[in-house]
Amino acid sequence: MVLHQFTQALREFDNVLITDEKGCAIFYDLADLNILLEIGLTPDEFFQKTVTDSYQNLSTDTSTIFKVLQTGEPIIYFEQVLTTLNGFSYTSLSSTYPIIEGGAIIGAIEFSKHFYESKQIKYLDHFLGHKLYRDNHTNYRLEDLISVNAEMKAQTEKARRGAKKNSSILITGETGTGKDIIAQGIHNESERFTKPYIVLNCSTLTEDNIFSQLYGIEAEGKQGKLQEANGGTLLIDQLNMLDLSLQAKLLHAVDLKSLNGEPLDIRYITTVNEDLDKLLAEKKLREDLFYRLNVMQIDLPPLHMRKEDIPAILDSYIQFYNEHTIQKDVRYSEEVLQLFYEYHWPGNVRELKNALEAAYNNLTGQEILLEHIPERIVRTVQQKAQPSMPNIHSGHLRDLTEAYERLIIAEKLRETEGRLAETARRLGISRQLLKYKCLKYELL
Ligand SMILES: Nc1ncnc2c1ncn2[C@@H]1O[C@H](COP(=O)(O)OP(=O)(O)OP(=O)(O)O)[C@@H](O)[C@H]1O
Ligand SMILES: [Mg+2]
Repeated sequence: MVLHQFTQALREFDNVLITDEKGCAIFYDLADLNILLEIGLTPDEFFQKTVTDSYQNLSTDTSTIFKVLQTGEPIIYFEQVLTTLNGFSYTSLSSTYPIIEGGAIIGAIEFSKHFYESKQIKYLDHFLGHKLYRDNHTNYRLEDLISVNAEMKAQTEKARRGAKKNSSILITGETGTGKDIIAQGIHNESERFTKPYIVLNCSTLTEDNIFSQLYGIEAEGKQGKLQEANGGTLLIDQLNMLDLSLQAKLLHAVDLKSLNGEPLDIRYITTVNEDLDKLLAEKKLREDLFYRLNVMQIDLPPLHMRKEDIPAILDSYIQFYNEHTIQKDVRYSEEVLQLFYEYHWPGNVRELKNALEAAYNNLTGQEILLEHIPERIVRTVQQKAQPSMPNIHSGHLRDLTEAYERLIIAEKLRETEGRLAETARRLGISRQLLKYKCLKYELL
């Protein structure tokens, strides 16, 4: 195999496997080692076995690696279905070459690409991603944020500029708007990208564990997040979930310049998925902590404010799935796009992605139709379109009153494009009561 074949193979395929002359794996550059867990092996176990031991349906006669080791001839673009020890099947397209030294075959190198069934697309996120960044525990670069919206583009550019500096960045946006992508993207765009990217999840912090989470447990030799992130980035995720009483402790930690005699050099990125002004006004967020963490602010608009992103995101994901699943040329109908334009997407891009995944699970042909879309989304849009007036000539007072109440709430929700807090304000009721009524009347 000559150099240009090698570089072409690296471009064309996702994975590289190198074995010794006995067919034992000595190097496996899989896009994500999670597949090994699907196979039912830890990476250590995988490297002690021959490739035939890792799949139910591979023998020395059917394994491309073994054939190449026996014959010394390459096998180019060979397609076969592989079934892992756990019974997980996928189609593998591979090119396999012998490694020859001094006339003797000393091993084999196999480049492969895997094609999954459409029902398996939920695994694809794990399997792929950017190999380059696997070492620092991230998957995303800023380029992975798909958007044609001017505001989103401006915010991404702001993130790109901010990445080069070391100041703290606070990212706001409703759930599922891409805060993780931006945060990881900033780390990978910064000069710290070879250093760790560590996540401190505020929703799991309590009075009892915050200290050990931040500083570790010395007696157990367990490092805290500050030490782990030193030199790199610490993501303070979902700050709005952190109890007010714990915020002083976090502030103390982020202000530290050194820990146990070691200088601390950490870039802080914070995410918040609720309205900042409201959090500050209601005193749910300490101002001193907010100003410490918010040197630069990035605000990601919700998906219903940038509906032009819907086809862009759908097209991009479908193209990705078309490349990595057996099902090719999947497309969506105009009706589906119309429905998606009408829907308010409270779960933003995450919800859109999940709807697409559900559609793939229900798909029979190549076209995604209304019948493949989760019933809940279709129903919400239809109810929004036809708020039917209750017939006041029949029925009990209570039923009729409830029917009116449902109508009023549905109309207000439409006016506010589904924003619960704003709807509650306009109706003069609490958000909790509105939420309860929405659930009762199946308006969410
Ligand atoms: N603009 C986008 N382009 C492509 N994928 C996106 C985009 N925005 C979000 N996603 C995808 O949607 C999912 C949710 O995104 P992400 O985890 O970044 O949300 P988040 O803002 O951090 O939400 P939360 O507040 O719930 O943590 C991820 O799978 C992510 O890849
Ligand atoms: Mg997140």
